[in-house]
Amino acid sequence: MTLKSKNIETILAEKRVFKPSKKFQQRAHIASMKEYLSLYEKSIKDPEKFWGKVASELTWFKKWSKVLDETEAPFYKWFVNGKTNITVNCLDRHLDTATRNKAAIIWEGEPKDRRTLTYSQLLQEVSLFASALKNLGIQRGDRVAIYLPMIPELAISVLACARIGAVHTVIFAGFSAEAIRDRVLDSESKLVITSDGGWRKGNILPLKQTVDDALHECPCVRHVVVVKRGQGEPFPCHIKEGRDHWYHRIIDDASAKCPAEPMDSEDMLFLLYTSGTTGKPKGIIHTTGGYMVYTYLTSKYVFDLRPEDVYWCTADIGWVTGHSYLVYGPLMNGATVFMYEGAPNWPDWGRFWSMIQDNSISIFYTAPTAIRAFMKWGEEWPNKYDLSSLRLLGTVGESINPEAWMWYHRVIGAEKCPIVDTWWQTETGGIMITPLPGCVPTKPGSATVPFFGVDAAVLSEEGKEVEAGILSIRKPWPGMLRGIYGDKERYKQTYWSKWPGKYFPGDGARKDSDGYFWILGRIDDVVNVAGHRIGTAELESIFVEYPSVAESAVIGIDHEIKGKCLVGFITLKDGVLATEALEKELKEWAGKKIGRFAIPDKIIFSADLPKTRSGKIMRRLLRDIATGRALGNVTTLAESNVVEQLREKYEED
Ligand code: WTA
Repeated sequence: MTLKSKNIETILAEKRVFKPSKKFQQRAHIASMKEYLSLYEKSIKDPEKFWGKVASELTWFKKWSKVLDETEAPFYKWFVNGKTNITVNCLDRHLDTATRNKAAIIWEGEPKDRRTLTYSQLLQEVSLFASALKNLGIQRGDRVAIYLPMIPELAISVLACARIGAVHTVIFAGFSAEAIRDRVLDSESKLVITSDGGWRKGNILPLKQTVDDALHECPCVRHVVVVKRGQGEPFPCHIKEGRDHWYHRIIDDASAKCPAEPMDSEDMLFLLYTSGTTGKPKGIIHTTGGYMVYTYLTSKYVFDLRPEDVYWCTADIGWVTGHSYLVYGPLMNGATVFMYEGAPNWPDWGRFWSMIQDNSISIFYTAPTAIRAFMKWGEEWPNKYDLSSLRLLGTVGESINPEAWMWYHRVIGAEKCPIVDTWWQTETGGIMITPLPGCVPTKPGSATVPFFGVDAAVLSEEGKEVEAGILSIRKPWPGMLRGIYGDKERYKQTYWSKWPGKYFPGDGARKDSDGYFWILGRIDDVVNVAGHRIGTAELESIFVEYPSVAESAVIGIDHEIKGKCLVGFITLKDGVLATEALEKELKEWAGKKIGRFAIPDKIIFSADLPKTRSGKIMRRLLRDIATGRALGNVTTLAESNVVEQLREKYEED
């Protein structure tokens, strides 16, 4: 049985339905299916009217002349000629209201140090750093790379860039020096913001050293700003005269007044790199106006944000979830955001639950891989803490298996919290398919129904609506990506060429008789490992760069905690011996080239790679070998005829 059909069977068997409680429903922003359906219909029939009305709730320097311009599709434009600055909506807008002195960010470091910034303090910090960036010569349109741990300065840096119209590109702090170099070069960043360390599982990460290694080959970088987070030990922080500047020093000399730069709706807000089906990561472009309106509304309705909520999204700002639902969306809604620096199991598996208890967190948004890890460690950990402040739970990153959903519902949500399973992507900017918690009944494992303005459908290769097939979005939406940095053609090819005029996200899906969507995972060569997208082609080309490797194929197979894990099939050059030492070297090589999270769990040396007659690698056969279905447990396929015989057998199937 193929993996996909197994998925379909599990979800076909899933018949449980959970309705929001009366208590939750009564206070919700969208409190009935009738209201959802009527608004949804309006949003699809007249998107310009719908989104124009939403945009009017926000502050603009100049109103748009047209909501949506489709003339150069798929290069859509939203809120044409509008002028705004997203930080005005995240910060300044709240200062004339009671939100002014409310906590915007409550932060906890891994060693339990804490910092709270009210909205007015956050604006002050953002303004100081924005002025300091200007003093270093950063101007609107310049790209700034950010490589920081989850400390308040990460949110401040993102907002400071947006304040002056510089384009931020955040690089997740788990990426290697070479991955940083590639992203800095592709984006031609002028400045890098990093820190002398960051805590993870009781250790300090040597972030500045990694940046120094990356920058040997990055002539475009003129300045590096270094936040002091480490303690000078065990990694001394080398400050390169003229290039490197301590964050705390440059904000000392900076002005606390930094007016927000009026940005055009279609001016670039940020770039975020993500893996694709080729060897090269894509710089996904998001612009100002549409992204702002879309993340504002999705945050408000999906998380049903209320003034008294304390909202925690566990994602790192290095990924899109942290951009949209830790920084921009919640702040535009005046929410109190909780932010945590370190590992979920430090000092023990109770850390998350103790923080929920101690901070009275009411909304908790995390990933299925984390939930599965918590399940494994046992419910005695959450049971030690008072989680009664929680009223809403969410997940993102991959489909949640019904078993994990039920555990989340019962153990964390005490059977009273709705769960929003939110499907979306770096490219979509915001949540696309999701229950609205006050009205949409949930089914474990289903992301349920489309958000306003999202015309989702399940299509066949030919573009016909089918029950199980490929997910598509048939209309543009404000939060959509505007391109791939420096590669217009690849944008058109990747997302808009499968069915003309319709967006192709790369996921398989099924739609049930209630119109609910069940996401079946990637159908392209991207593997979702613990919620991180890894392009198999990218890893394959990295392995082939290794001197003793002739050819490689990388696949994803099921993994209990991570959802999927990677397996690398390697064919060595003539005369090279397949040894355990070599396997270790190859794993280290992948870590060095991308980051530790991209290291395959298994390497299988093979004399040959099975290919179809037209030369395509037979990935199904590789999956069956890796999972033991074809050959039992193997680590070396030394005899070339073994693979050849299997190939023939599989072609007969
Ligand atoms: C997967 C993360 C099923 C999907 C926001 C998508 C999901 C990819 C879900 C995007 C979900 C994300 N159910 N699958 N609720 N959420 N995915 O760009 O395969 O890091 O295409 O964005 O994650 O990952 P990305």
